Amino acid sequence: MAKKTNYIAKVPDEQGLINYSAEEHAVWRDLYAQQIPSTKKYAADVYLKGLDLLDMPANRIPQCLELTERLMPLSGWRVAPVPALIGFGRFFNMLAEKTFPAASFIRSRADYDYIEEPDIFHEIFGHTPLLTDPGFAHFSNIIGKIGQRVEPADYSWLIRLYWFTIEFGLTVKNGQYKALGSGLTSSPTELIYSMNSPVPERREFNVIDILRTPYRIDIHQPVYFVLENIDDLFQAADRDLLSDIRQAQSLGLFESRYKCQPTGQTIMTTQLCDLSDQTCEPCQGGMAALDPAEAKTLLEELHPDWQLSSDSKVISRRFKFKGFARALQMANMIAWLGDRQGHHPDIAFGWGYCSVSFTTHEINGLSNNDFICAAKLDQITA
Ligand SMILES: [Fe+2]
Repeated sequence: MAKKTNYIAKVPDEQGLINYSAEEHAVWRDLYAQQIPSTKKYAADVYLKGLDLLDMPANRIPQCLELTERLMPLSGWRVAPVPALIGFGRFFNMLAEKTFPAASFIRSRADYDYIEEPDIFHEIFGHTPLLTDPGFAHFSNIIGKIGQRVEPADYSWLIRLYWFTIEFGLTVKNGQYKALGSGLTSSPTELIYSMNSPVPERREFNVIDILRTPYRIDIHQPVYFVLENIDDLFQAADRDLLSDIRQAQSLGLFESRYKCQPTGQTIMTTQLCDLSDQTCEPCQGGMAALDPAEAKTLLEELHPDWQLSSDSKVISRRFKFKGFARALQMANMIAWLGDRQGHHPDIAFGWGYCSVSFTTHEINGLSNNDFICAAKLDQITA
């Protein structure tokens, strides 16, 4: 089941260090001790080699700066803590700059076996070993650079190539499946599920098929793609991925009964769920409004005509038309959308224009719901 997140991003001090509690270090220690034997048994050699190279601490949460010091000589990558909420645009920009965005909190004991949001254990234990390998580092960098070239409406197409490889890819060794993806190597339950369960479908690596395959963020994956030869992934970095996206779009998404689920107040770093795929949750007083940086980050996910108010409490877009009828039609459509989502915008229209504003009155500011509705409006007016 989808759930609201209870996690808050940890803020680094002036030296770039994050202060974790003894209990948080203990959660890392226990996760690390549990995952080491499982990864030695089930993870791909390239991951295990990276884990050895990084030699991360077993008894405490490592700092991003430590990982950067070890990664830089190997592949030129950095690891940087980020706020819990980061959009696709910023995610791609960071990959393009060879900087891995790491959510800074660690899961609680209640979420020990499975956590929907990526925590620091997922980011560091799961992701950084592959970033020691020049081939995976280059592929991640290319995803970022392509992400800078695609329209925001195409982000959800490109991200599937990252999701089904870097996050949840499988490979094979001596006829046995091996885990490549960070979502597997960092998960006590999904690592074993992905290897042994007869339930998920395991499909041959194919870029176009991957781009056409919907995924869910809140359950163990129903589909994995298997790289028989890891070089096939590295060769994908040399493809014309923009053309691949166009081809996948012309063919359409594969039919799926799975639907991206609502995720609560925040969108986590690598949760990789398109805004327009989410649905609004009931507005509640008492929750915090998005801060200006968070609102600005999410604004990047929307059509460039959206404007953020100077106090970061409202987002607005003005549509222009020649005549009155189309403005009225747009106003009706926006009203329909808002009513359907249970999140009602302010609408103004007249001859030649229709303006819409979203805010969350209950919290006197912006919430995820405002951006979800705006993204849906972008989708249906594209
Ligand atoms: Fe991830």
